[in-house]
Amino acid sequence: MAADPDDEHRRELMRQAACVAGAWALAGALPAVAAGEVQRYPRSLLVDRHGEPWLARRLKVGEAFLFDYPYTASPVFLLDFEREVKPVELVTQDKQRYAAPAGVGANRSIVAFSAICAHKLMYPTPAISFIGLRKGGRGESAQVIHCCGDNSRYDPLRGARVIGGPAPQPLAAVLLEWDSATDRLHAVGTRGGEMFDAFFEKYAMKLELETGSSLRKLSGPTVIVQPAARYSRQWRSCSV
Ligand code: FES
Repeated sequence: MAADPDDEHRRELMRQAACVAGAWALAGALPAVAAGEVQRYPRSLLVDRHGEPWLARRLKVGEAFLFDYPYTASPVFLLDFEREVKPVELVTQDKQRYAAPAGVGANRSIVAFSAICAHKLMYPTPAISFIGLRKGGRGESAQVIHCCGDNSRYDPLRGARVIGGPAPQPLAAVLLEWDSATDRLHAVGTRGGEMFDAFFEKYAMKLELETGSSLRKLSGPTVIVQPAARYSRQWRSCSV
């Protein structure tokens, strides 16, 4: 009987977590607890605006896409790169270690991160976005996630770790499952430092006006993927 691709993916995530946990246990400097810790949320199928499954091959290398997960008001960057994205060990602001997951898809190059800046929680809105995928600088990856607010920069090829600016921790990783038979993608949870409590507290009224829905409404069985350019009407350019 053919193996279930979802089961295979879950096994791969556990294997990555076990490797990282082993490395941390040897290093012994920080509490070895969070390697396998995943904040599970209801599984959401990524779809296009017509409700058709968003196939992984529709992503464009180096172009940012967005969807809202795990809540209808919490945006997520969906990114594909030219090369495989390896899992990486990272630490949250409160010193919890975790394994930012490897890329998924045929080339293991697709990753997703919360688009809520870990500094002062700027995020893409329908009107404007101050945080986005931009050209990397000298010594950086070819593309970085840059927040214009205070110039925090994150490396999406290394788990969205902080490479510049005041952000105190990486962007939270959003866990994806990829079905090799159908090329479909699901979001299934997060790993790393979630900012949702602070985000919903800070922007309660604004979010309600923007989304028209009650706060902390879970995304549901499907989430719509959009090119970043369509998600926000204006993308603020900023320089370091
Ligand atoms: S809000 Fe993003 S760097 Fe300050």
